Amino acid sequence: MKTESVDFLIIGSGVAGLRAAIELAPFGSVVVVTKDRPSESSTEYAQGGIAAVISDEDTVGIHLEDTLKAGDGLCREDAVRTLVEEGTDRIMELIDWGAEFDREGMKLSLTLEAAHSRRRILHAQGDSTGRELERVLLNKVRSLPSVTKYPYAITTDLIIRGNECHGAYVLRNGEIIALLAKSTLLATGGAGQIFSRTTNPLVATGDGMAIAFRAGACLEDMEFVQFHPTSLYSPTAPQFLLSESMRGEGAVLLNIHRERFMSAYHAMEELAPRDVVSRAIISEMVKTNSRHVYLDLRHLGKDFIKKRFPGIFATCLRYDVDITEDLIPVSPAAHYIMGGVKTNLDGETNLRGLYAAGEVACTGVHGANRLASNSLLEGLVYGARAGIAASRTTVIPVGGTELETLVYAIPDGDEIKRILRKTMWEKVGIIRCARSLDEATQVLKTYNEIMNRTYLKRHELELKNMLTVARLIIEASLRRQGSVGAHYRSDFKDRGDRWQEHIMLDRENFFLSSQEAI
Ligand code: SIN
Repeated sequence: MKTESVDFLIIGSGVAGLRAAIELAPFGSVVVVTKDRPSESSTEYAQGGIAAVISDEDTVGIHLEDTLKAGDGLCREDAVRTLVEEGTDRIMELIDWGAEFDREGMKLSLTLEAAHSRRRILHAQGDSTGRELERVLLNKVRSLPSVTKYPYAITTDLIIRGNECHGAYVLRNGEIIALLAKSTLLATGGAGQIFSRTTNPLVATGDGMAIAFRAGACLEDMEFVQFHPTSLYSPTAPQFLLSESMRGEGAVLLNIHRERFMSAYHAMEELAPRDVVSRAIISEMVKTNSRHVYLDLRHLGKDFIKKRFPGIFATCLRYDVDITEDLIPVSPAAHYIMGGVKTNLDGETNLRGLYAAGEVACTGVHGANRLASNSLLEGLVYGARAGIAASRTTVIPVGGTELETLVYAIPDGDEIKRILRKTMWEKVGIIRCARSLDEATQVLKTYNEIMNRTYLKRHELELKNMLTVARLIIEASLRRQGSVGAHYRSDFKDRGDRWQEHIMLDRENFFLSSQEAI
């Protein structure tokens, strides 16, 4: 097997990975491995914006409070404090590097989203905030000679010696290479693709969470999956996010009888926390026997809508929905995983030399439910922190391989993926119970062998990772016998006595193997 050595290895090229690369570049050679083109990440598709304390009417304390409240009692307060305290500097630095956020005159334009008590969401080109961040960070990284990108290269597994990470095995140009590194940072994003309805791009297959689990890392809070209330619902259109900032600007929800309903569910109506809005929509859909509700923003006026949401306007028009004139059919979709690879505030995991930042990680910043638009901020703040910490690593990587040499294929992969996504949506979605979770376990156990084999094709590796992450989410959801934040159990509607505990899963306490009793 070919071996390459690098000082620092970053897996993933969204906001967290790129921001870390910028910190690491002065200290040695950096390789950024990414399984698609470098800009293809959840960051690229983030619409609404990035939250930060900018306005005179806002304070770190208020942003902290809003985040803790959304997290429903399970945030790590020090992680949130770090996020909001360091967030403003990270944004200002981005503006210095060329980020063009929307302005009203000279002032940065700030919008509102659910559960924010102040206008604090910065946005770019109306509804293409993530694309602007990715553009600026990729430009910055291009100017750093010590950073090399390996696009279209997928990580199969981490190289682990004892309790240390020494790099990763990466499938590149059809062969596996051992990429040895003093420190390895996972910044692979989320896993929304394990659900049949999701706002996430195709690359969001939970790779980092699954390879970290296989390596012996500890995962935390995996039961907390956020469902975004409004994704376009049309049998002929792809799933597409309709940003919460539309409701922030005054859009309202209507059931199919064209009646507003949110006031019956929460005092904050359309701007209630996402889990509340998603469950309210599901409830209206059941009551009216419909597969969707409507989002209505026609009253905001054509000119405003086109200027404020140009990307959403153009995309919906392509599928025959004119958002300035038509009601928009919407339904919830899996959007973000609050849980992930457990880290401290410097992105360190329980394995020396292995770091994680962004959606793949669980710093505790989001608790049981993420405050809207805190995730790009998390990528910036904790990507930078993980980069700084990783630059100080003392791990000395050692070569050699324990990779399984037998390579398998999954002939019916597309069908298994379809079953997985449908099962997760129907049985592990917005409303769960012991019975639905047990049923999901039984379905997915059938594919246990897939999770323990070696593959040399991207779609097969992705399926292996998706199945692994799905099992982790189901297991954590079974273990949390109560309803907190985004995790709602119809058989345990109260929080439960032990609601403050975090659910940790690792290879020692959750056994996923082909020997598992079926
Ligand atoms: C949105 O624009 O609604 C998504 C923002 C987020 O999830 O933070």
